[in-house]
Amino acid sequence: MSTTTQHYDAIKYKTPTGSELTCKGWIQEAALRMLLNNLNPDVAERPDDLIVYGGRGKAARNFEALDNIIAALKVLENDESLLIQSGKPVGILKTHKDAPRVLISNSQLVPNWANWKHFDELEKKGLMMYGQMTAGSWIYIGSQGIVQGTYETYAAIADRHFSQASSNAQQPGTHHSPLTIHAGGTLKGTLNVTAGLGGMGGAQPLAITMNEGVALIAEVEEWRIDKRIETKYLDEKYTSIDEAIDKAQVYKAQGTAKSIGVLCNAVHLLQRLIERNIIPDTLTDQTSAHDPLIGYVPHTLTNEQANILRTQNPTEYLERSYESMYLHVQLMLQLMDQGAITFDYGNNIRARAFEFENRQTQADSQKPIVDSKEPLPTTHYRLSANNFPTGRCFSFPGFVPAYIRPLFCEGKGPFRWAALSGDANDIAVTDELIMNMFPENKGMIRWMKMAQEKIAFQGLPARICWLGQGEREKAGLAFNELVRTGKVKAPIVIGRDHLDTGSVASPNRETESMLDGSDAVADWPILNALVNTAGGASWVSLHHGGGVGMGYSIHAGMVIVADGTDDAEARLKRVLRNDPGMGVIRHADAGYELAQETAKAHNLNILDRI
Ligand SMILES: NC(=O)c1ccc[n+]([C@@H]2O[C@H](COP(=O)([O-])OP(=O)(O)OC[C@H]3O[C@@H](n4cnc5c(N)ncnc54)[C@H](O)[C@@H]3O)[C@@H](O)[C@H]2O)c1
Repeated sequence: MSTTTQHYDAIKYKTPTGSELTCKGWIQEAALRMLLNNLNPDVAERPDDLIVYGGRGKAARNFEALDNIIAALKVLENDESLLIQSGKPVGILKTHKDAPRVLISNSQLVPNWANWKHFDELEKKGLMMYGQMTAGSWIYIGSQGIVQGTYETYAAIADRHFSQASSNAQQPGTHHSPLTIHAGGTLKGTLNVTAGLGGMGGAQPLAITMNEGVALIAEVEEWRIDKRIETKYLDEKYTSIDEAIDKAQVYKAQGTAKSIGVLCNAVHLLQRLIERNIIPDTLTDQTSAHDPLIGYVPHTLTNEQANILRTQNPTEYLERSYESMYLHVQLMLQLMDQGAITFDYGNNIRARAFEFENRQTQADSQKPIVDSKEPLPTTHYRLSANNFPTGRCFSFPGFVPAYIRPLFCEGKGPFRWAALSGDANDIAVTDELIMNMFPENKGMIRWMKMAQEKIAFQGLPARICWLGQGEREKAGLAFNELVRTGKVKAPIVIGRDHLDTGSVASPNRETESMLDGSDAVADWPILNALVNTAGGASWVSLHHGGGVGMGYSIHAGMVIVADGTDDAEARLKRVLRNDPGMGVIRHADAGYELAQETAKAHNLNILDRI
């Protein structure tokens, strides 16, 4: 084994491509290639810290663990399974050929200890890492995944609220009732405000302009803005808030689809919009509010001050961060009250605001927490956390109950695949196959065509599209045939986000406002991981805290390799039926009629069997 480095070494960690094996089987090889692909600098946000996306979402605990995982995958036999405990390989055990080659558990904590404070102590001691969702389960494919999800979300918003906007630039507050559903809506002539241009948030500008809208996005780190401009996800950069707002207003009036990144704190952008009486048509946020210490920068600090305070005085940093997130949500609420269609885009900012408000109430004091401390010198003005009505932090909805749940009821979710050959032509072959296979799925075909035109591959060529119950199984088997018949140069690896129909319990996100109140029931993701293990997925992972932070979610990942063999065919049939099937069963059990119909149609209703 070569010596462990403490930084990302582009030569040592280069992803193998082509049709030659470097491991003892294609499943181990796929795990190795996808792990290294996750960390490829074209894919990962901060490879030197092993951080892939989502605040501190990592692929391996440290460089020693990474080297050991690579070494373990190379010796792993076809009847063994490698165990990964929070990013560190801890054992190789005898299983059998149809068992997953890798079993992963990330960031699991006993519920009473499931908070960032305890996690941070363990992480400092080197005992844990945060796996986010696809980072720690080695199936992140760069921004394409989130571009697609964000595109679908904004398309649903356009359909529901702006079906006539293309011919008539919207005035603030004139959107249609959220209950009216129109097809073919567009964001043309609308101003869409949000924040955060990180690994996930960086998809927002492209997703908005793909829906023909104007995006105005606050981001505190200049290199993030520059990175999105380089990859053509973002069109323009401003350092003056007023100039950015002015330009966005011009584009909105013209109905021109453009995206603008502005170097400022989200709180300051929203404050300025309110001062100027400019009400966005849509409003959300994708800063890493799930992680108040590492992921969110308080508006009372510059980015440089934040970096210093975070290490020198994390307690004060957290106080400022919570106060800022509270203000952020209150400003969102003010804009919502004036007509902005406002939603939480899965970063748990409403819960952070709620936690702050609760503490304020309990402290029985009207003073903002940080006022009692010596303020750091800052060029930014401060808002007061007082004078906002209480009890409103959850007054705008999360994006899942607002726009996505009907898709989950049909077993639909973010199905993705990557070409292990590294050859972009293999993805072109799969694109054609998928479009021919589901000609009736017009939304999917529209997306596929746009993705072919606008999405640059990052790392291994990959594709994502939302497929539902029945469709995923059909697609997986067809990919296996492509490999078997040599129409693609190497096996195809198939996976999905953990944000999916049957794999998550996350009461502020995927399972918010479930019909039967079962939002916090976490049996479902556990059953999902168990059934995918039993069915023979290639690797299975169970995570805690993804998307929304410690204590707020339990979720499972699944990846399966189509290597063209009969064994793979049998596994694909089981896993790609059972995995979305869990989502249909879960939503049918919660009382959703659409899920109950889907369950009946796909023979998933237990009462029909007994
Ligand atoms: N909706 C979804 O489908 C979905 C999917 C995955 C993740 N998420 C969540 O979205 C969030 C963002 O994920 P990411 O991968 O982009 O994270 P990231 O950490 O890579 O990026 C966050 C960005 O926000 C910026 N930022 C932080 N505080 C700010 C502030 N106050 N004002 C302006 N900019 C600020 C940071 O500089 C950074 O660029 C996370 O909470 C993640 O869990 C949502």
